[in-house]
Amino acid sequence: MVKVGIVGGTGYTGVELLRLLASHPQAEVAVITSRSEAGTSVADMYPNLRGHYDNLCFSVPDTKTLGACDVVFFATPHGVAHSLAGELLAAGTKVIDLSADFRLQDAEEWAKWYGQPHGAPELLKDAVYGLPEVNREQIRNARLIAVPGCYPTATQLGFLPLLEAGLADASRLIADCKSGVSGAGRGAAVGSLFCEAGESMKAYSVKGHRHLPEITQGLRRAAGGDVGLTFVPHLTPMIRGIHSTLYATVVDKAVDLQALFEKRYADEPFVDVMPAGSHPETRSVRGANVCRIAVHRPQGGDLVVVLSVIDNLVKGASGQAVQNLNILFGLDERLGLSHAGMLP
Ligand SMILES: NC(=O)c1ccc[n+]([C@@H]2O[C@H](COP(=O)([O-])OP(=O)(O)OC[C@H]3O[C@@H](n4cnc5c(N)ncnc54)[C@H](OP(=O)(O)O)[C@@H]3O)[C@@H](O)[C@H]2O)c1
Repeated sequence: MVKVGIVGGTGYTGVELLRLLASHPQAEVAVITSRSEAGTSVADMYPNLRGHYDNLCFSVPDTKTLGACDVVFFATPHGVAHSLAGELLAAGTKVIDLSADFRLQDAEEWAKWYGQPHGAPELLKDAVYGLPEVNREQIRNARLIAVPGCYPTATQLGFLPLLEAGLADASRLIADCKSGVSGAGRGAAVGSLFCEAGESMKAYSVKGHRHLPEITQGLRRAAGGDVGLTFVPHLTPMIRGIHSTLYATVVDKAVDLQALFEKRYADEPFVDVMPAGSHPETRSVRGANVCRIAVHRPQGGDLVVVLSVIDNLVKGASGQAVQNLNILFGLDERLGLSHAGMLP
């Protein structure tokens, strides 16, 4: 049994970790933290988990208790893992961070986008970007994993086959992405209120979103050089889901794009390339650790459209984090993650 600690257990990604780990046969949650709910039992706070964690209560984060775990997930705002990860790693505990703290390899770039100095630049050399479809071998031997963000997961998985094959004009990529409101977390904010976000849709951060440098870092690796990306996120009135509509110019019309995508992801348990002509729906991945993709070339032109959907809380966060745990501890990658999406 892998002994698990979770820092930030009352947030949306924290409770999603609990939901997924409840059916994991090889992992046991020993510690779950919340400063505001210390002493409350998990089952009282989350009735959907009754019968799964009846003896588990939230506690204040304490590195001694957390350091007795085999692995600790951080489901916290940025900056928290910076301050606690070093001590846990020194105690021999592995760290899987769902925040952005270790996703960017350049500490100065991180400071620019997050408006504060990087709190643990000395750990960056140990950080592995936890996108299994790219870094599976490095994840196996890691001790610190940076779980990719939700927009970055859907967007990178959609663009990778085209860029790795050198087919797309990497200087003019467009990612037009939509997110459900749970992407903003559980904290009270006017923009996330039902009356503000319901029955409406809007773009935001067109000038520059924090996920932009993370996506370009990954796409640069795939393309083997610089990329030019326009990334426009939107807030949509759904609870879960990311829908990325991706555009790339592919002049070579002889290439069979459907075969290219199918081949790239043939051995990937959590990427589903749909049949030609498909339109993946976010509801088909709700609650499931799946990225569902379709590739189109409208009117046979040179602009290729890739549609990529995930659940922001599963393949975009907690599911991908559990996938990383499975790889890290040499377990079957699908453990705790094999259920289908909830539809309708
Ligand atoms: N929501 C998504 O779809 C999504 C997707 C991918 C990645 N992420 C990332 O995952 C992280 C968590 O997101 P979320 O949506 O779950 O956030 P959230 O709903 O706002 O929850 C944040 C959690 O962190 C705890 N926390 C806050 N400040 C803390 C501190 N200084 N020390 C210890 N614990 C602290 C909170 O509990 P207490 O305050 O009670 O301690 C709470 O349990 C964020 O970095 C986010 O960017 C989120």
